[in-house]
Amino acid sequence: MVETVEVLLSSEDIAKRIKELGAQITKDYEGKSVVLLGVLKGAIHFTSDLSRELPLDVEINFIKPSSYGDGTVSSGTVSLDYIPTENLKDRHVIIVEDIVDTGHTAVKLKDYFADQGLASLKFCALLDKPDRREAKDLTIDYLGFAIPDKFVIGYGLDYAQRYRNLPYVGVLKGAS
Ligand code: PRP
Repeated sequence: MVETVEVLLSSEDIAKRIKELGAQITKDYEGKSVVLLGVLKGAIHFTSDLSRELPLDVEINFIKPSSYGDGTVSSGTVSLDYIPTENLKDRHVIIVEDIVDTGHTAVKLKDYFADQGLASLKFCALLDKPDRREAKDLTIDYLGFAIPDKFVIGYGLDYAQRYRNLPYVGVLKGAS
């Protein structure tokens, strides 16, 4: 079945904003080597595109929190299904997320790295739904777009594992 998708952020909108984020991160990390830690699966495209806007010494790795499954609602309980095998001690790490919703995943990731002896830890997200936040005191250091509380898909984001391949972010009509 092919559902109707309303475009919220075009591929041009996304590319332009990622260039801006890249410029900001490049300035902030001048002379340093950086580990981009993409959050699977949703941040695959964002991690890749952002990395190509960073003329820095960059390593790319991934981490995978437990998925919320195929539904549209967060369970609030987050565990980690895959963690990087590399030792990230003394490294400058930027967690790269596709979206912050309740914020529980972001808090889990930040807490996990809090006692790992990193040189620094920042959090970068393409999308934020501030109206959905449950976690307190969550700072997003680099943010692409704040968006309304609508179920979004595309550019890595899925509905029942589909639509991650769309080059834009859209709202699935009929989804809550
Ligand atoms: C999404 C998204 C974040 C998380 C954010 O992942 O990629 O990791 O939910 O939600 P929160 O702020 O309420 O914690 P999802 O569980 O859909 O897995 P996926 O990236 O593999 O699709």
